[in-house]
Amino acid sequence: MGWRRKGQWLSLVLSSMVVAVVMEASAGSESEVVVRFVKAPHPLSALDSATFEFEVLEERNGVLCSDCTIRCKLDGNKFSDCDSRQASYRSLSEGDHMFEACVDGYREIHCASYNWTVG
Ligand SMILES: *[C@@H]1O[C@H](CO)[C@@H](O)[C@H](O)[C@H]1NC(C)=O
Repeated sequence: MGWRRKGQWLSLVLSSMVVAVVMEASAGSESEVVVRFVKAPHPLSALDSATFEFEVLEERNGVLCSDCTIRCKLDGNKFSDCDSRQASYRSLSEGDHMFEACVDGYREIHCASYNWTVG
């Protein structure tokens, strides 16, 4: 095998690698979102109420996702609509609680949870 041939083989390998990377990046832009809590109760809270506020960001570019559909859930309760990106709960029982925010409209559902204890 001469140098010329080796060079051609190498450039073929390199160009297929570039294609693979580009495809992965464009798939990622549709599927990756992150939920960032802006407001949440103290992990050990003396209050029986809790307010959550959060942001949903596209992971790739850090831009807020304006058309994401979000549902929120407290403990074993049903999901409720949460497009306002906030939720408040009152009359919480003492003990451990879990808040979940799930983002729809992507290939996967992405959920973020926050655990805290009322005591
Ligand atoms: C909260 O608790 C649940 C159940 O124990 C667990 O699956 C989840 O990962 C926890 N979330 C965080 C953010 O630690």
